[in-house]
Amino acid sequence: MKAIILAGGRGSRLYPLTLVASKQLQAVYDKPMIYYPLTVLMAAGIREFCVITTPEDQPRFQALLGDGRQWGISIEYRVQERPAGIAQAFLIAADFIAGEAVTLALGDNIFVGGDAIPRALAEFSGGALIFAYRVTNPRDYGVVEFDAEGRVLSLEEKPREPRSHYAVPGLYIFDSDVVGIARGLKPSARGELEITDVNRAYMDAGRLKVRRLSRGFAWLDAGTSAALQEAAAFIETVERRQGIKFGCPEEAALQRGFLNLEAFAALTQMMPDCEYRHYLEAVAAEARDHALVMTRDAPGERTG
Ligand code: TTP
Repeated sequence: MKAIILAGGRGSRLYPLTLVASKQLQAVYDKPMIYYPLTVLMAAGIREFCVITTPEDQPRFQALLGDGRQWGISIEYRVQERPAGIAQAFLIAADFIAGEAVTLALGDNIFVGGDAIPRALAEFSGGALIFAYRVTNPRDYGVVEFDAEGRVLSLEEKPREPRSHYAVPGLYIFDSDVVGIARGLKPSARGELEITDVNRAYMDAGRLKVRRLSRGFAWLDAGTSAALQEAAAFIETVERRQGIKFGCPEEAALQRGFLNLEAFAALTQMMPDCEYRHYLEAVAAEARDHALVMTRDAPGERTG
């Protein structure tokens, strides 16, 4: 499974913040926004990424994320000249997808908690999979209606009269047919290639599945100043309460074994003296202790 992170767009609702840096580079509490979707996908085991940005912002994303090698992953970059729709990502990244299954994550979507996403990625077996998340304001989103068996009944983009309370978060999983489907799309009334039309094509073919995200799961998007502030406050609250962090690619890389403890320590040593570094050092210390315990307890490994 490969992953595209779509991080272009206008970010007009965040003006003037977005005059000098795109939305997905803005801080969500203590990290750049794009770290959150990136980390969720890494934690689910994905190692091959393509980041799509505006032409102006590409160098800044490259400065932030590099080629991914430092985290044991690979990151390629593509440019979207104009924000012509989310589904254009599949055309821009067709050579990256190269006949494989792909996850598309929006760079301003934040997912916290649970194992729904890693599980869905591990169990994915073709067609398309979307998620459903209950919200109070479905009119602002793509809305999915489904029956008790999880069969999708309808999909609507920002409907005036939503048929359900379930919004479709910005993380979608597709088989490689998605490129051909995107090639056949016509721009919508607002002139965009719509992700909802991609999902609808899978739905019409009986190949779209939906999974409801449970109560314990948090999905936030950070498209407006208020939403950005709320997302930051939410992350701060949970992080400070629990003494853990979300959205650290280094931690996901260590947990998934993309980096060993030595490479991880080399990374943290290059960081300035800051809370982020202290946190990662604590993560490494815990992993080291855990590894020691595992070695000590392993049968046949006892020395004394
Ligand atoms: P939106 O929040 O719908 O649009 P935007 O980011 O341009 O912001 P605004 O409405 O305030 O002008 O986009 C959702 C995500 O998808 C966001 O991460 C940007 C990304 N996106 C693209 O990269 N290219 C596109 O053509 C579109 C429509 C969105």
